Amino acid sequence: MGSRIVATGRATPRTRVTNHELARRMDTTDEWVRTRTGIEQRYVMSSGESLVDIAAEASRTALQRAGVAASQLDAIVVGTVSSDFGFPSFACQLQHRLGLDTIPAFDVAAACSGFVYALSVADSTMRAGDYERLLVVGADALSTMVDWNDRSTAVLFGDGAGAVVMVREPSDRGVLGSLLRSSGAYWDLLYVRNRGVRTTIDAEARRVNEDAIRMKGPELFKIAVRSMEDISRKVAERAAVPLEEIALIVPHQANLRIINAVAERLGLGADKVFTNVNRYGNTSAASVPIALDEAVEARRIHDNDLIMLNACGGGLTWGANLIRW
Ligand code: ACO
Repeated sequence: MGSRIVATGRATPRTRVTNHELARRMDTTDEWVRTRTGIEQRYVMSSGESLVDIAAEASRTALQRAGVAASQLDAIVVGTVSSDFGFPSFACQLQHRLGLDTIPAFDVAAACSGFVYALSVADSTMRAGDYERLLVVGADALSTMVDWNDRSTAVLFGDGAGAVVMVREPSDRGVLGSLLRSSGAYWDLLYVRNRGVRTTIDAEARRVNEDAIRMKGPELFKIAVRSMEDISRKVAERAAVPLEEIALIVPHQANLRIINAVAERLGLGADKVFTNVNRYGNTSAASVPIALDEAVEARRIHDNDLIMLNACGGGLTWGANLIRW
């Protein structure tokens, strides 16, 4: 008995910000951002918008495509570090927004690896026989945590949500395995001190730098490449799947150079790697499910294909899921 993703959905905030627009606000250029990261634009939260609403929109799309009524869900698992509250969890707010009550709903906080972690937790609980139908969401709004005067971080992040509906079924298809890792020793490569303070790009009040996202970009870059390569090899090895049999990798979309370096080390051509970082920036836990939804829509994924999801992010955390679609 395993768990299978039967449908996907995604949603973003309304406001699209191009590199050119950022270059009018801070000392950067479209050329710098494109060549260093592959990012051309991102969607960011404006005042009055709620990430829970955006996650609910992505969830409703996935539920509708799955032909599953929200009332049929047994639990909600959300990968996020962007709850508007210290508590309650984002998942509890989403449960209420979807008009549900009593089913368990909880967050998994693993920053950019949030969705890969949440999918692994969801799969384990379904294998244990606890749930039949589960909603797994990745949602983040890191644009609300950057200092918009800090060009080294402000250009990197975008906001959004992706959702998948998973069902428990006796099938060869579904999640074949997941591997998760973390290393708290590297906590200070990427962190935000004050999770309770939010400022959107259009807000008058600017976040003070001490409360904003802090990042050691070049160190993170090297560790991200190494760890994503390593975890991808290990998850495939454990499932006895040769890497060349993988039809598509849907990686965390942090930086095109990281994605390309990992693919190259794994010996996989560009046709086997899905990228959309150019249009979304780094949406943290939302990046993998948004990319997965676009890959399905673009018919890059077919029934019975072997698909790998992988990610690395603050914590540090990293992980991968191997799926027979
Ligand atoms: N525009 C113009 N110049 C900039 C900008 C900007 N937006 N940001 C930084 N710079 C400058 C710096 O001030 C520095 O200038 P200096 O050399 O005069 O001091 C210079 O650019 C640094 O340039 P590089 O060393 O060439 O930068 P690098 O190639 O390391 O790229 C980057 C920086 C993009 C941050 C890269 O290190 C990176 O992507 N790291 C990973 C970060 C990441 O992805 N974080 C997301 C979360 S972790 C994850 O998801 C895996």
